[in-house]
Amino acid sequence: MARILDYVGLSFDDVLLVPRRSPIRSRKEVITRSRLTRRIWLNIPILSAAMDSVTESRMAVTMAREGGIGVIHRFMPPERQAEEVAKVKRAENIVIENPMTISPETTVEEAKKIMKANGISGLLVVDADNKLLGILTRRDVVFEDSDRKLVKDCMTPRKDLITASPGISIDEAREIFRKNKIEKLPIVDENGRLKGLITSADLIKREAYPNASRDSRGRLLAAAAVGVREREIERVKLLVEAGADIIVIDVAHGHSEMCIEMIKKIKKMYGDEVDVIAGNVATPEGVEDLASAGADAVKVGIGPGSVCTTRIVAGVGVPQLTAVMKCSEAAEKMDVPIIADGGIRESGDLVKALAAGASTVMIGRLLAGTDESPGTVVLKNGRRYKIYRGMASMYAMLGREFRLRENEAEALLDASEYSYYAEGVEAYVPYTGSAADVIRRLVAGLRSGMSYLGARTIDELRKNAIFIRVTELGYRESTPHDVELV
Ligand code: XMP
Repeated sequence: MARILDYVGLSFDDVLLVPRRSPIRSRKEVITRSRLTRRIWLNIPILSAAMDSVTESRMAVTMAREGGIGVIHRFMPPERQAEEVAKVKRAENIVIENPMTISPETTVEEAKKIMKANGISGLLVVDADNKLLGILTRRDVVFEDSDRKLVKDCMTPRKDLITASPGISIDEAREIFRKNKIEKLPIVDENGRLKGLITSADLIKREAYPNASRDSRGRLLAAAAVGVREREIERVKLLVEAGADIIVIDVAHGHSEMCIEMIKKIKKMYGDEVDVIAGNVATPEGVEDLASAGADAVKVGIGPGSVCTTRIVAGVGVPQLTAVMKCSEAAEKMDVPIIADGGIRESGDLVKALAAGASTVMIGRLLAGTDESPGTVVLKNGRRYKIYRGMASMYAMLGREFRLRENEAEALLDASEYSYYAEGVEAYVPYTGSAADVIRRLVAGLRSGMSYLGARTIDELRKNAIFIRVTELGYRESTPHDVELV
């Protein structure tokens, strides 16, 4: 027999947070650091959604630099997705482990071509044994008239180079750059063999983003999404090889046996080498089952997203604030963080989601209109927009089908069927400039909310949170009213 729960499902707009006595003197005192998975923490509790109109490498680099993380979507061939992950991992390599090298017998002409094709300003010169012989920089060749000259006759030789040993710390490297005013610091072992390269440009970038999410080697953190089908294990392997720190099992109904099996398989293959996030769920039982299977974080949200129609099409879902609150009780018991995914429209929703027990939130729409999301700006009635689409929308599903099938005509025959199964829509979202700006605005709102609640940390935010339900009239009072907006 069907039953009905004895509590009401609430969404973000149904509640407000009650202000509390606050010891906080400045919003700068507030610490927004939060737990993303069992092992990984972020300085800013925000993830960009694993959607093809939100996160590829460009968004993921910006998210990680700002202190959050991007989840690279899975709606592309595994090799391409792995390359997107590799781009994030390469974006700020403190130690480049396989720097580009050339032989001393190469011509200057060839060396110039290699530099240009790879967009680099210098090449390390090594012998057949990978022993460092010198360095050839753009400066060494820019005024070289004879392209037929050999690298060994133009390079700065090893005896004039400053090098470092493996294991050098970032601070020691910084000191060497400062003292010697050099731009490249090759790392060589005791036998003179090349082991890596540190560049001043990478160190400068590191200092420009003090909040950035980094791995133990100083590279930006990268997460990537996978599905649950058998063939997805190959995708997981490629993503891990490319350096993904987190695999996100990304399915509409995460509380499913297929998802549980996938978590177990990945955990069996990699143990603690990679963290696994799984979802989406909307119940405490869902959190318990996925966490018991080994998930290092669980994503919560069935149908709250701005382009989701699951609740309308399938009649299934749980209003997001209640879903997060109920799931967070189970999450605490299992000692696994949860991610509130979908429905964040303003910074106030972010504050409410974290206060309700989420450790981080995932955002699609607010980031879809930025420069960093895939896709171009379109003009409509003189205004600038970008296209944002649900991953279960008809066109997103059709696009996937085209990529899977050899024959486009065959896919088209089935096209009409997709309109029956769609659980998402395609939409225009206003073009909003840089994603870093969007993130900073959200974080400013979060800091404000935390200081109203007297919370220095996300943990204190949760402890101090008291929600009050509001009526529709109360909601109206919360928004600008009785004025004509400028
Ligand atoms: P926002 O509200 O930030 O939500 O745009 C992003 C989240 O929406 C989910 N998503 C979907 N849900 N049908 C759905 O029911 C869809 O087609 C769809 N596409 C994305 C997803 O969890 C994302 O992170």
